[in-house]
Amino acid sequence: MKISDLDLSRIPTHIAAVMDGNGRWAESRKLPRTEGHTAGEQSLMDVLEGADDLGVKWFTVFAFSTENWARPSEEVKFLLNFNEKILLERRDELNERNVRIRFIGRRNRQVPRRLIRRMEETENLTKGNTGLTFTIAFNYGGRAEIVDAVKRIIDEGMSAERINEKTISRHLYDPTIPDPDLVIRTSGEYRVSNFLLWEIAYSELIFSETLWPDFRREDLFTAVKEYQDRDRRYGGVSET
Ligand code: FPP
Repeated sequence: MKISDLDLSRIPTHIAAVMDGNGRWAESRKLPRTEGHTAGEQSLMDVLEGADDLGVKWFTVFAFSTENWARPSEEVKFLLNFNEKILLERRDELNERNVRIRFIGRRNRQVPRRLIRRMEETENLTKGNTGLTFTIAFNYGGRAEIVDAVKRIIDEGMSAERINEKTISRHLYDPTIPDPDLVIRTSGEYRVSNFLLWEIAYSELIFSETLWPDFRREDLFTAVKEYQDRDRRYGGVSET
């Protein structure tokens, strides 16, 4: 699939991705699981560039979930260092591409201080950029996000009768992010796995059989084509 095969007037504004299948990719090659994550970095950079070329304005990835702490400690350690390494190695080139980098998730004591510092530095470095906004969900869980939103609403002393859907949306980790139009999950897993639960109420979900380390911009374009062939009705009826 190429960009010219797509309807450029109907490009999703926000695409979110669950980069799944790194472990299986490595295991099928008799490599340690961590090699799959390493290979996934190339996919991420290629897909981000493809999204930017397509004119996508917001791209969000699930980098580390609140459930990922339960993995073997060696893999957790690897993933923490790996995320830091990607940030350090890639933020300058993303900055040059006018990409604004943001993070969503719990920045609590579970997350190493140094990584939180790197996140803050990266957000500051890129905050003035006007191109694609790349949001990294780190120590993120959809239910945790809703719980954290409810806690803050209560802390602010809001009365129950004033609370509506907009109130919840305004108290999410980053209320400026529009809801995703399209969510892609790779590796043939047909689950949402606690990703952006509130935000995906009306998103189109596309599941790809491709393992994340094999996923490239052409696969992104294929998903966008499928998205364009769907009929989004938001609970209403079609115009045609
Ligand atoms: C899921 O594969 C993937 C992850 C847990 C991590 C993916 C993270 C990256 C590619 C880097 C992101 C970093 C930044 C800074 C954006 P899996 O291990 O669950 O695969 P499996 O389902 O085959 O076991």
